[in-house]
Amino acid sequence: MANISFYGSHNAAVAVESDGHLITVIEIERFLSIKNAGYTQYLPSYTRPFLIRHLLEYIEEKHGILAFETCYYLNTDAYDEGKFTHYQEYIPAQKYVNCLHHLSHAACGFYQTDYEKALIVSFDGGGNDGYFNIYLARDRSGIDLLEKFDLDLGFPYMSFGDYLNDIQKEHALSIGNLVYPGKLMGLCSYGKLIENWLPRFEHYYRCKPDGSNYRKLLEELGEKINLTFDPQNRFVGQVAWDIAKTSQIAFENVFLEMVQPFLDHYPDFPLILVGGCALNILLNTRLKETLNRPVFVPPNPNDCGIAAGMILNHIKPEKAMDVTYAGIEILDKNTLMTYVEDKRGNQLNLTTLAKDLSDGKIVGVVRGPSEHGPRALGNRSILCNPAHPDMKEVLNANVKNREWFRPFAPVCRLEDVEKYFHFSGESRWMSFCPTVREEWRERLQAITHVDNTARVQTVTQKQNPWLYQLLGEFEKYSGIGVLLNTSFNINGKPLLSRYADAIIVFEQTHLDRLVLADYYFTK
Ligand SMILES: [Fe+2]
Repeated sequence: MANISFYGSHNAAVAVESDGHLITVIEIERFLSIKNAGYTQYLPSYTRPFLIRHLLEYIEEKHGILAFETCYYLNTDAYDEGKFTHYQEYIPAQKYVNCLHHLSHAACGFYQTDYEKALIVSFDGGGNDGYFNIYLARDRSGIDLLEKFDLDLGFPYMSFGDYLNDIQKEHALSIGNLVYPGKLMGLCSYGKLIENWLPRFEHYYRCKPDGSNYRKLLEELGEKINLTFDPQNRFVGQVAWDIAKTSQIAFENVFLEMVQPFLDHYPDFPLILVGGCALNILLNTRLKETLNRPVFVPPNPNDCGIAAGMILNHIKPEKAMDVTYAGIEILDKNTLMTYVEDKRGNQLNLTTLAKDLSDGKIVGVVRGPSEHGPRALGNRSILCNPAHPDMKEVLNANVKNREWFRPFAPVCRLEDVEKYFHFSGESRWMSFCPTVREEWRERLQAITHVDNTARVQTVTQKQNPWLYQLLGEFEKYSGIGVLLNTSFNINGKPLLSRYADAIIVFEQTHLDRLVLADYYFTK
């Protein structure tokens, strides 16, 4: 019989297991097209029964599953408006098991590897079992908690987003915050580390600022470094970038301060990073480059992976469970042939597509099941030629409408990664940002960030045959085996889940070509 898990806070998701396999992860943000959506946030409480009913109907239609043996959930994530949501009311299961936030993160990471043992760090803005937990998996039978630190590195990191003028201001920090960290990482590459600020920033991190006291703590930080932190009068230019950079290094240093003793004590254990802070590719890369051990970050380290983690902790698979493309299918699949007729779609031909990409065309791709996790990995991607002149500016201004400083990521075949980047091995989920090799920087300027790094995705024939073959074909015409790969979405929304949304982007931006399943659309 099947099992289900339900995570309800921000980045809510439902995962389903059948016969020992995790068969789908439905991220509610994709279902509703509301970025980082939560079940108990963003929507009125009276809509919850309708949302759950639609999710269950999706599972029934796609997978033929009507009822469940066990429903795994986190009680605390469903607390809203003074009461708990009772999943028991809406989800048909024989029993209901309350789980732990960070343990689920840890299982989510560990059981996506083949490791027989691992040291696991789960750290983020907090859950029902803490903020910064360290676990040990001695074998694949379970995961033990080693230590809990009362240290939140997530909230203080993102708090700076409210104070730097280059970053588009979002709603209140508690809502807009989740998009700040990625932007801060992009911006800090323009800054420099201010050595005499560093101890003050580290102190700020150690004070565990939260929504109630961060303004006061930032004021105190400002007094010590002669700056005024005022969200109404945000920092502009170099000083803002230096704040971002110094904050990043402080974040990394405080992390290492906590984790180094465990790294020393378990020298032959691979390191797994999970929790929302494991989306910090700068820290991930520093660890990968400096630690003499494997460093693994799953595709879904943030809260979108908790539902999968609850299920994986139940299954405890013998071998790595691949959830890369376990996301939802296109929700308006039955409209495809209408678009093919109305918009004159042709049968997709890989050679034509590769030639168009080589000529500088910008192409939206919607094929196959969606990526699970925040990165576009070829199935909901916009692809283009990173060597085409001004591609970054064209893409930013005419298609993506993003802040000027945000870099674009490359994708290449696994066997090519060493040719273009100072990196070896897999970066399947864009968790690392190595430097681009000097001889390629000028040619690949659209994917080379100001500090010469790139958040590369590697792909193999087995992992995504279509994307792998496209890279080979593209190389024949362009002479390079690297494509620029950015997320296919309506501005500010999550990866799209409807052909209708792809058509909107195609018709309302300068996107030149569109791939919907096996059809190709031109303008
Ligand atoms: Fe979390």
